[in-house]
Amino acid sequence: MAEYDPRVSPWKLSENDFPSTSGMIEQMKFLLGYAVLAPSSHNTQPWKFALRDGGVVDVFTDLNGWLRVADPDQRELNLSIGCAIENLLIAARHFGFDPKVKYLPDANDSDYIASIELKKSGFDGNIDNSRQFKAITERHTNHKNYERRSIEPGVLQFLENNCSEPGISLYLTINAEFRQKFDDLIVRSDAVTYSNPEYREELAYWIGKGAFGTPWLISQIGRLAMAYLNFGDMVMRGDEAALMSAPVIGIISTTTNSRLNQIRAGQVFERLYLCATSLGIGVRPMSQVCQVAEHKQELAGLLPAMGNTPLQPFLLGFAEPAKEHTPRKSVDEVMLSMIYL
Ligand SMILES: Cc1cc2nc3c(=O)[nH]c(=O)nc-3n(C[C@H](O)[C@H](O)[C@H](O)COP(=O)(O)O)c2cc1C
Repeated sequence: MAEYDPRVSPWKLSENDFPSTSGMIEQMKFLLGYAVLAPSSHNTQPWKFALRDGGVVDVFTDLNGWLRVADPDQRELNLSIGCAIENLLIAARHFGFDPKVKYLPDANDSDYIASIELKKSGFDGNIDNSRQFKAITERHTNHKNYERRSIEPGVLQFLENNCSEPGISLYLTINAEFRQKFDDLIVRSDAVTYSNPEYREELAYWIGKGAFGTPWLISQIGRLAMAYLNFGDMVMRGDEAALMSAPVIGIISTTTNSRLNQIRAGQVFERLYLCATSLGIGVRPMSQVCQVAEHKQELAGLLPAMGNTPLQPFLLGFAEPAKEHTPRKSVDEVMLSMIYL
């Protein structure tokens, strides 16, 4: 068998390999192959799964992937797990299941995020789900500057219709005044975060682990440089260039800033990533503003939905796709050893 290459192997899924004649555990394991392709902040992949023979996938946090400095309130952790849940649901529907999610099923276990029951229902003819399913293995975060090309209003309307839920709003804007104010927030947030040595050390740790897909030696050089040098100005200039080139700025926000809504917002965010991918549009999250409490508050004041809490800012636009994917742990690595009945 070919050796597992974390940048290549997990992305080479073929739907033809779905083990339709095997038992539920094998089928659910196959579906997890799609869940692990989800995005996560610093690519920490903060999820673990347990499988039950009756057709239930239990989803847990892996606290090793919690960014304690950048994300003290676990907003990004919850969003990231929401992204993985959304991939799992889309894949499950694609293979004819009708998934039912129970969120936070055990009040005494805060790491137990969801239990997802899978029952066979047959193909539901949902074409949008098929397009999103196809995009799971193509999706990636765009870190390039955008082409000078606007996104049609009809496309933005499509995204807004598909990517919002009760209590979770998607705001997409091309407004110049909003852009200017958002730019000011990005500049100030990059300055605050990168001047914090603990923030840089945390980022350096994940760079050193190769989370962003760089080869070992470059990861080690990057780790040392990030830990000991303040790249704030350089990062800020890069972020500003991306922001100024992006035709659209987006913010996902919530009426009630609960853990449940952060997980659901992650699902909405992943749906947005996948819909955008299927339309050839690149997505770049810009989390720094939400990492500085006062700046997050200022951003809330810019939203049209009064009183909403911003959860995830991002940019949208057309850009050349990345040549390589970022690495992922294998399904075996994210499975709890216990399979219980
Ligand atoms: C909740 C969340 C926050 C993120 N924040 C940022 C960010 O602030 N800047 C950035 O460049 N990428 C951000 N990302 C993207 C991750 O870095 C990216 O998903 C990860 O490195 C895996 O790469 P991929 O999305 O190309 O598969 C974020 C992703 C998630 C899910």
